[in-house]
Amino acid sequence: MSRKFHITTFGCQMNEHDSEIMAGMLQEMGYTPADERREANILIMNTCSVRENADKRFFGTLGQLKHRREQEDDLIVCVCGCMMQQQHIIDTLKAKYPWVDLVFGTHNIHRLPELLRNVISERAKIIEVPDQAEEMVEGLPASRLYQCKALVNIMYGCNNFCTYCIVPYTRGRERSRRPEDILQEIRGLAEDGVREVMLLGQNVNSYRGEDQAGNKVSFAHLIRQIAEIEGVERIRFMTSHPKDLSDELIEVFRTCDKLCKNIHLPVQSGSTEIMQRMNRHYTRESYLEIVRKLREAVPEITISTDIIVGFPGETEEQFQDTLRMVEEVRYDSAFTFLYSIRKGTPAASYEEQIPEDVKHERFNRLVSMVDRISAEKNAKYEGRIERVLVEGPSKRDSNTLAGRTDGFKLVNFAGDPSLTGKFVDVEITRGKTFSLEGKLIERQEQR
Ligand code: 5AD
Ligand code: SF4
Repeated sequence: MSRKFHITTFGCQMNEHDSEIMAGMLQEMGYTPADERREANILIMNTCSVRENADKRFFGTLGQLKHRREQEDDLIVCVCGCMMQQQHIIDTLKAKYPWVDLVFGTHNIHRLPELLRNVISERAKIIEVPDQAEEMVEGLPASRLYQCKALVNIMYGCNNFCTYCIVPYTRGRERSRRPEDILQEIRGLAEDGVREVMLLGQNVNSYRGEDQAGNKVSFAHLIRQIAEIEGVERIRFMTSHPKDLSDELIEVFRTCDKLCKNIHLPVQSGSTEIMQRMNRHYTRESYLEIVRKLREAVPEITISTDIIVGFPGETEEQFQDTLRMVEEVRYDSAFTFLYSIRKGTPAASYEEQIPEDVKHERFNRLVSMVDRISAEKNAKYEGRIERVLVEGPSKRDSNTLAGRTDGFKLVNFAGDPSLTGKFVDVEITRGKTFSLEGKLIERQEQR
């Protein structure tokens, strides 16, 4: 029987990459991807627990599938990802959604082919959610979203236990991949035409790989090794924890042309007291010092961040420290979050939860400041010429191409879709809040 699959991905780039790997494995099994959920008979929902109301939205979407599952004998519904690593979600699934065929977690994605085969041959319902990773599995295929750029895991899990965050519970402890395995994967990608790699980990700065000879390899060292791979033109990473950002890495920013001059450096709050209650292990001053050093080494570096508004006990004064931080750093962009309770995290039981209306009012003030600064910074790009890696036609308009600058700014410009995957020079004509507009000035072959 011909089988088509569809994967719905919620959440971060880590999840996006997990979905690419699942798609790769399913294609190796002979299944084909479907553009729409209704065209597919294997449906996978890759869930995230970080976003607000994630549970509600997930169960809402899942509920809509019940009717189809009853009508269509050959339909297989699978759910996976971070939410499955939480016991209360599994309990709800068992009680209210017993028709779901396959439930697996973040640690056993590589088992998808075997689990799926069992579901199909036995018509069994399977729940397999190990709470810890066994060995790291290497060599899994991936079906990439883009031809010219790729996501590459360098480590899994997180040891930081920020008091608001569920990730250490859903993704387990930090594990660094072997440098040789990472380099081999990237060499293969480069041969396949990939020009830009995004190195992924919850906290890439604490990467500590061990090579076959038993030597420890730092994150900075790993980047230098990746930069030697022919064909790779750009290296990025996500996410880095400010407490672990080393001088060695700043030096690589200064000296390695291939390392993009852009960093995502989540600050979460501008108040030292709140940072400490979040268990972030830095202060307002030490964070600002890192920013100073980065800018001293690389004046044009772009900086983005994550900010949480309304952490339990946050006073108006402490919130204003966050506003002052944003004004001082002048972020190129920021992801802003309303604090919301994650069951099982320390902050969930803190007294002094902030009322919703107060959170929203602060959030709005923060977003208008963040957006104003983004627009001001982007306006400064007008007239500049930027090297852009073309990702393809833009989502909104097929006559427009979309690509990214070295500093990770999204640029839209008129051009032929055949430029997809190439580097081009674009003159920036307009800087908007979330993107730049430009004019193609010269066609260039790949270096
Ligand atoms: N409430 C609000 N935002 C959160 N984040 C993580 N956990 C929570 C929470 N409980 C945000 C942080 C993190 C980003 C990925 O999600 O800012 O950096
Ligand atoms: Fe969550 Fe903190 Fe780990 Fe990031 S560093 S994943 S916010 S616990």
